[in-house]
Amino acid sequence: MNEQKDLYVLGIETSCDETAASIVKNGREIVSNVVASQIESHKRFGGVVPEIASRHHVEQITLVIEETFHKASMTFADIDAIAVTEGPGLVGALLIGVNAAKALSFAHNIPLIGVHHIAGHIYANRLIEELVFPALALVVSGGHTELVYMKEHGSFEVIGETLDDAAGEAYDKVARTMGLSYPGGPQIDKLAEKGTANIPLPRAWLEEGSYHFSFSGLKSAVINTLHNAAQKGQVISPEDLSASFQESVIDVLVTKTARAAKEYGVKQVLLAGGVAANRGLRAALQEEFDQHSDIDLLIPPLYLCTDNAAMIAAAGTIAYEKGIRGTYYMNGQPGLELISFESLTR
Ligand code: KG4
Ligand code: ZN
Repeated sequence: MNEQKDLYVLGIETSCDETAASIVKNGREIVSNVVASQIESHKRFGGVVPEIASRHHVEQITLVIEETFHKASMTFADIDAIAVTEGPGLVGALLIGVNAAKALSFAHNIPLIGVHHIAGHIYANRLIEELVFPALALVVSGGHTELVYMKEHGSFEVIGETLDDAAGEAYDKVARTMGLSYPGGPQIDKLAEKGTANIPLPRAWLEEGSYHFSFSGLKSAVINTLHNAAQKGQVISPEDLSASFQESVIDVLVTKTARAAKEYGVKQVLLAGGVAANRGLRAALQEEFDQHSDIDLLIPPLYLCTDNAAMIAAAGTIAYEKGIRGTYYMNGQPGLELISFESLTR
């Protein structure tokens, strides 16, 4: 019998403020998944401080990788490939993961694979259910807001992106103006649940048929609303303001995603990125796609929405199967573009 050998990929992620490692079997099954968050260290600065992030990654990376192996009861001899986030992200942070991956790849003679952070976020969905193509991913994170069309595994066509702020960035900036601590997204989400969307705020639809996004106008409108109220000595309910802001964001995201899903005739819609943890967005997308019996909506559980290394191992597994290999010239690439695996000549 010609039984296929199981494939084990070690994933490493250090692009922002989480030091993470994970071992994934056959691109779909999490064997172990360790995430060391630095949020507490950045909170008092109101955002991620790159220098501090790098320092934490250096301190944590070896421990996190060791713990991943310990939890999996495995050794490097069991690993077929090492997948690491190559970009985009903070250069100093990326470099820690990339150098760890290169050193381990060299020392243990294991193939090295560079993974785009957003490909990782999208592939978090495959840890839940097998992907069916064509698919459309709505990527909403701290640095990205994108609609990505996928005709097959490892194929990415960005059909829409933000022209200014990313959705998560808008959440964090609005939260900061409201005096909430970093990261503001989850806090606005909680407040919104208790409020009523009764404050009129703009929605940037952009030109007819566009799949691009823009959140800076909405962000400024919220800031103006707060300043005007303060000048008049009025108090605005943080719950209602959060609900109104969140409704504006979700309205545009859900409407454009549903329109693109129909136009491109996709079988699956994949939600991805940190903002995918937003309960309002999850509920609104679910409600929308419940009406489309021919489109399957996948939403990863919360722990796979924010940064983790299981998603990097999942995307890395597809790259590995497609024959993509990194070299020891690999570097952290803060502005790395999301391109299809087929166009990668490594
Ligand atoms: O994907 P991620 O962990 O990091 C990047 O790759 O950027 O996303 C972080 C972003 C932050 O802006 C954070 O405020 C936002 O995701 N976020 C949320 C929620 N949880 C995290 N935004 C809205 N609602 C949430 N529940
Ligand atoms: Zn991310």
